[in-house]
Amino acid sequence: MSRNPEWLDNAVFYEIYPQSFKDTNGDGIGDFKGITEKLDYIKELGCNAVWLNPCFESPFGDAGYDVSDYYKAAPRYGTNEDLKQLFDECHKRGMHILLDLVPGHTSVEHKWFKESMKAGKNEFTDRYVWTDSIWEEPQGMGCIRGISDRDGSCAVNFFSHQPALNYGFYKCERPWQQPMDAEGPKATLEALKDVMRFWLGLGCDGFRVDMAGSLVKNDPEGKGTIKLWQNVREFLDKEFPKAAMVSEWGEPDKSIPGGFHMDFLLHFGPSHYNDLFRCDEPFFSHRGKGDAYEFVKRYNECREKSQNKGLMCIPSGNHDMDRLARSIEGINLKIAFAFLLSMPGAPFIYYGDEIGMRYVEGLDSVEGGYGRTGSRSPMQWDKTTNAGFSSAPRDRLYIKMDESADRPDAESQMNDKDSLRSEVKRLIGIRNAHKALQTRGEINFVYAEKNEYPLAYLRGCDDEWILVILNPADREVNFECRLTPVEKIYSIGGDISCNDGRITVPPRFAGFYEI
Ligand code: NOJ
Repeated sequence: MSRNPEWLDNAVFYEIYPQSFKDTNGDGIGDFKGITEKLDYIKELGCNAVWLNPCFESPFGDAGYDVSDYYKAAPRYGTNEDLKQLFDECHKRGMHILLDLVPGHTSVEHKWFKESMKAGKNEFTDRYVWTDSIWEEPQGMGCIRGISDRDGSCAVNFFSHQPALNYGFYKCERPWQQPMDAEGPKATLEALKDVMRFWLGLGCDGFRVDMAGSLVKNDPEGKGTIKLWQNVREFLDKEFPKAAMVSEWGEPDKSIPGGFHMDFLLHFGPSHYNDLFRCDEPFFSHRGKGDAYEFVKRYNECREKSQNKGLMCIPSGNHDMDRLARSIEGINLKIAFAFLLSMPGAPFIYYGDEIGMRYVEGLDSVEGGYGRTGSRSPMQWDKTTNAGFSSAPRDRLYIKMDESADRPDAESQMNDKDSLRSEVKRLIGIRNAHKALQTRGEINFVYAEKNEYPLAYLRGCDDEWILVILNPADREVNFECRLTPVEKIYSIGGDISCNDGRITVPPRFAGFYEI
């Protein structure tokens, strides 16, 4: 793997869901100009990088994860020129921006798919995974059938309107399954590189890759998909060596050898990320009935397996999960951010999480969001109409706002030094000031026992070592610790006391100490 682009060493990302961020033309949907307008807000918070959810032409049956033209910005957000301007404005501010690459599937409306549905052979016949008879379904994948002249069923990758692009099968078991080095799969991979070339050429700094582990079929150990991404990495090293790549894979032992610089810990899969924030008794809840042990165990295993080469990124949330504030409240949100912003890897803050935006209950599904819709409501900027998101009449907003009278907003929180946003800003500032806390610093867990509190770990780099102690529970706890905290860098919720090799930690507390 190539060395990480240097800017990742101290990257803190902000995820922008473009349709819900800021509308500047009053049509009720966010746009590129709105994002550009708000870059200073993101920078002021301390984030220096952006991940933008898909912003390409799409029928929006899955919020843009159903691309119908990889080369064209969705008109509702603006033009390719506006997007380029957004890249340039990021760079002017010393920020970087990743686009969302959706390599596994397209929309049924993509011209590649329309061509591939034709009975006669053409350039796109093998662009997707098709069986060779309408009566045979691709096993275990779901399919689209009965809408093409072509006699076959097309595998889908996610929703049933998202046909699977054909990168080949690791093990071919049926005559229609093609190996990775067949002409069709090779052409698909080249088409993907062309898309990447286009946007990197226009000035984006890399990609977040959707379902990165799903490309090669019948590949249970991911060996084929790893090989495919290594091929992409070679291309990037040659043509765009600075391009940064983060995968939605959730298995760093695969994605990192595949050439990704970063992989997400996800709300599905084996990471135990949900144990911390989103389960009946999350570790970060004040009830103090959670358990961080399994998370830490798996986290350490992943670090070992990926030989500590890439970055494991822990998001505050994203457009697919419940808002953090649905299960964690008050000072506990601040403690959760003290964790997120003191862990290795690049942290990702989902828009609005920095002000504790809520999951909006009871919304009808919008753009294929279903239960995810409540986490995708418009950003709350201030106390004006539509919380400053849009000047459109309320019923024209593409998605409903949080209508509660006490909904949090960015402006009020910026003016309140005790707000969640002020705390998040403070924590990012502390991270920026201490290399030990940044992406590549070491981590050693000091106390992470089954069903016990607190969680304590040491972060280190060169000769700086920082002890992080987190006690979300609403009871005092203590733990054995032979380290001597010498200088406090940060604390919220009081202070610790050290006695005879034991540290006593107040309820609902977070603290960082130099040792
Ligand atoms: C993961 C994305 O984050 C999600 O929003 C989308 O629906 C699926 N992949 C399909 O692309």
